[in-house]
Amino acid sequence: MNGKNIIIGICGGIAAYKIPQLVRLLKKRGACVRVALTEGGTHFVSELALATVSEEPVYRKIFPPTGSDEMDFTRHISLGEWADALVIAPATANTLARLSAGLCDDMLAAVFITLRPAKPVLIFPAMDGQMFLSPSVQRNIATLSAQGCLVINPESGVLASGQCGVGRMPEPEAILAALEKALHCGEKRSLLYGKSVVVTAGPTREKIDGVRFISNYSSGKMGFAIARAAARRGAIVTLISGPVHLPSPPGVDRLDVESTAEMNAAAEGFFRSCDLFIGAAAVSDYRPATPYDGKMKKDDEHIELTLVKNPDILARFGRQKSEGQLAVGFALETQTGLENARKKLVDKNLDLIVFNFFDRKTSGFDVDTNILTLIGSDGVTVELPQLSKDDAAERVLDAIEELCPKTGSNP
Ligand code: CTP
Repeated sequence: MNGKNIIIGICGGIAAYKIPQLVRLLKKRGACVRVALTEGGTHFVSELALATVSEEPVYRKIFPPTGSDEMDFTRHISLGEWADALVIAPATANTLARLSAGLCDDMLAAVFITLRPAKPVLIFPAMDGQMFLSPSVQRNIATLSAQGCLVINPESGVLASGQCGVGRMPEPEAILAALEKALHCGEKRSLLYGKSVVVTAGPTREKIDGVRFISNYSSGKMGFAIARAAARRGAIVTLISGPVHLPSPPGVDRLDVESTAEMNAAAEGFFRSCDLFIGAAAVSDYRPATPYDGKMKKDDEHIELTLVKNPDILARFGRQKSEGQLAVGFALETQTGLENARKKLVDKNLDLIVFNFFDRKTSGFDVDTNILTLIGSDGVTVELPQLSKDDAAERVLDAIEELCPKTGSNP
């Protein structure tokens, strides 16, 4: 952090009382810190305390009071130029809304606008759990993530209301670590930054009659982890999801579908434009030929269900992709896995296939960990240990990034 100029934006949340400690940590590492305090923030932490620990004036309004010694009306521009990064912690629902709407009504909002898109902006939302999960807050977070801000999800624990839930700001040490990482990443930006990534996830459902369907045990966790990780790397992510019980990852554009036909229709809209297509969905391979409209009655001792084949979404993309586009698939296998996975890689014209061992305890559907083997189209095989799905997603994206220069593509 030595020599880095950091602006910390503080909003009106109880976690604001921890920010003087963050300022101290940053200064100890040689950073120069200036604070932009919102009106709400003044209720939780004093300007004097912040000015004392930062050894800099604290900024609140854009315009200096008339007659003040310092008549600089363009301070928001010079601050934006001065800073190497902006950290907003805690970020309240109100400030998330102001920033995502592009309002410019105090120094923090003004500096936010003058910084982007060239400098890292780290946002740490902290608020009541229900507020955080509300559609409006999630929409604003998605907008800000899509603009390239790094929005770090709050932690779970006891909240100011006394209730337990998600909404706690990470500790100053964790904020410092995220900032150090972002500044380092800024020098070596992910190859996925700004690229269009489409991820399919979850199961599909094929209607038998008005109340029954064929499906599988997929929870969507792996696909969602990949979408989340790609968005964190700055990709513009579209997540096409079958029916799952998962919240949308921040910064990801989500399309909900039910059947394979719907997933196929949603996906093909991106076939020409996307840089990278990742098929992580457990797509139903067959559907009932003639779904019954109402509820079928059990009048017969035996009934036969005729199934017809569904389109293979990933194979369709793989076969028609043009130079510069990458296709990545998953192969969920219980036996003779590697061989089958290699065959799928070739048949579907993929650049990478992820062999996903299935045992329902440590790996596969509806568990939180996975055991994956990555197989490139050049035959290179990398076995990963048992990892959390989030860590596994990072390793899959690392492997994809390695493919980028080799294929001449620039996802
Ligand atoms: N896939 C797809 N559309 C389908 C079937 C599969 O897009 N109709 C994708 C999956 O998302 C996955 C890959 O193809 O990335 C392999 O899926 P998998 O279920 O392992 O294999 P299948 O091709 O369906 O073959 P099989 O069921 O015979 O193993």
